[in-house]
Amino acid sequence: MSAKPKKKITAIKGTKDILPSEARKWQKVESVAREIFELYGYREIRTPVFEATELFEKGTGETSDVVTKEMYTFLDKGGRSLTLRPEYTPSVVRAILDHSLHLKSQPMRYYFFGPMFRHDKPQKGRYRQFHQIDIEVFGEKDPAIDAEIVEMADFLLKRLNVTDTEILVNSVGCKACRPPYLRELKQAAEAVREDLCPDCQRKIDLNPLRIFDCKEEACREMSQGFPKVTDFLCPDCEEHFKLFCVYLGSYGIAYRLEPRMVRGLDYYTKTTFEIISSKLGAQDAILGGGRYDDMMKEFGGPDICGIGFAMGLERFLSIVPFKEEKESFLYIAFLGDAAKNAGMELARQLRKGGIECLIEYRDRNLKNQMSRANKLGADWVLIIGEDEVKANRYQLKNMETGVQQEVGADDILTFIQKPS
Ligand code: HAM
Repeated sequence: MSAKPKKKITAIKGTKDILPSEARKWQKVESVAREIFELYGYREIRTPVFEATELFEKGTGETSDVVTKEMYTFLDKGGRSLTLRPEYTPSVVRAILDHSLHLKSQPMRYYFFGPMFRHDKPQKGRYRQFHQIDIEVFGEKDPAIDAEIVEMADFLLKRLNVTDTEILVNSVGCKACRPPYLRELKQAAEAVREDLCPDCQRKIDLNPLRIFDCKEEACREMSQGFPKVTDFLCPDCEEHFKLFCVYLGSYGIAYRLEPRMVRGLDYYTKTTFEIISSKLGAQDAILGGGRYDDMMKEFGGPDICGIGFAMGLERFLSIVPFKEEKESFLYIAFLGDAAKNAGMELARQLRKGGIECLIEYRDRNLKNQMSRANKLGADWVLIIGEDEVKANRYQLKNMETGVQQEVGADDILTFIQKPS
């Protein structure tokens, strides 16, 4: 009987492995972001990867593309509808309410890193599993916080030497000023109904604001002629937006008003913003966010306003310049069993002293071990043979200069840490 050829199992379309060669860059960006968020008083919060489907239907919004087209929703074994989170914001609101965090302290500042899932058409910069860095603030009404979070995002970009970015800002109004705007918008869209794609025609009746999210070129062009939400702001929203822009100005932050940037999620009120990069191509938004003052109340909680942003890590990492900062790395080459034992013990001591140290157990001769150390980019090689074990003195080779010298076990650390 002939064996069936084995089928190769590959990664799912739209997902990406983060390989060891890229992991350092991820760690660097995550650690700088973490450090900056903590400097601004944010604390980490982690929530589950899947949630009840209705959390996103209610939070992200039933007319958003994310909910109507992109959610990974499934029934679990108990028949309950669950969804892999497409974004983080509704999850943190749920977590606050579940744990009554609002009763412990206010305002609240949280940050979060993790994978998100959206079943969109994969392309460069758009994945089905991607990662976000997210920050959220609850209980701050003042537009100063709107400006502060944009300034914090700008600080993060600058710390990581990211250039060629632009900050776009808008206000989408609130429950008071949006209905008259939506009536006008609907009228304008109705007038060109036949020229819009079937999806946008459906949106005219459902939520005309969502027409601005359409990726079809014809609809995008058409929507440029539609009324601007900023022409309809109520006095409160207008004042908020004006002050937001004043505070951005006082931080010296350049921005562009983008009156048709309504953002693709249903919950936004007042301020919205995005940071885009000219280095990214079609999917140019590194980060997007805004205010969502009604979400907590709509979830049955207290009337506590919210604001935040999320950064797409895959997109961001593709424009972060990066040079690996190398710590001193020592490779132990040994010959014979006694040397192996001595090497294992020395490796343990050196690691305790904070030195990255590698000993490998394959049966290689000294020449092969030296070339392996070279390939791995070792800064030092400690050579141990039978004689060295007996004398308790070892050969330490500096791989950059090629200089080799004899050292005692206790001197290795001092030697390696000595500035060259
Ligand atoms: P969003 O604009 O949907 O906002 O996503 C934020 C960022 O995530 C985008 O600017 C982009 O960099 C990245 N992103 C989104 N979808 C994908 C994808 N399919 N592949 C790769 N990257 C992607 C939110 O998610 C809101 N929760 C932001 C927020 C927080 N608003 C208030 N608080």
